[in-house]
Amino acid sequence: MKTFLGVIVGLTVLAVVLLVLALFAGTFDRSGAEGRAELQRERLERNLRPAGAVRQDGDAMPIALAGDTADDDDNDVIRTGSEVNESACMACHAAGVMDAPVTGDEGAWASLMEEKGLDELVENAINGIRGMPPRGGDRSLSDQEVRNAVIYMLEESGVDAGEDEET
Ligand code: HEC
Repeated sequence: MKTFLGVIVGLTVLAVVLLVLALFAGTFDRSGAEGRAELQRERLERNLRPAGAVRQDGDAMPIALAGDTADDDDNDVIRTGSEVNESACMACHAAGVMDAPVTGDEGAWASLMEEKGLDELVENAINGIRGMPPRGGDRSLSDQEVRNAVIYMLEESGVDAGEDEET
């Protein structure tokens, strides 16, 4: 009976020792392999981050790309000639400031159109010519938007521009 008890106790102690050893081994294993994996993942995530991403806190992944907001689609919308004219051209072309050809003056626009053609007029509106500032002074206008405005001014003056606005 004494021997039997001794064996039981011995086995129990051995089991506990083995259990503790197993736990330790597990811990070491985790701190090694998992730690390395964690580091690798972090490095990978950092390399995969898109350029120009917005960071909102120190270690989190970026949650939004710069300019990636729902209402930031101004650049996708091409403004119409009428809109562009009103915001950037009318100031001079409504009254003929500095001898700007007046929108509505058929004679002036007809001879400009005859002399230069739509492409050259647009080119000059984009790059500027004498008193005419490049893009009417609004650098946010795209080439197409300036083109739309020139077509609009011609049509408003009763001159056929030969093509429609693109919006
Ligand atoms: C600051 C005043 C001003 C603004 C703003 C302005 N223009 Fe002009 N524009 C002029 C003047 C002055 C001329 C005449 C230039 C010359 O021939 O001496 C002119 C000429 C032009 C011509 C004829 C170019 C040529 O080849 O003779 C076009 C086309 C034109 N403007 C388009 C536009 C458009 C489109 C806008 C708006 C996006 C605009 N302009 C805004 C002053 C202005």
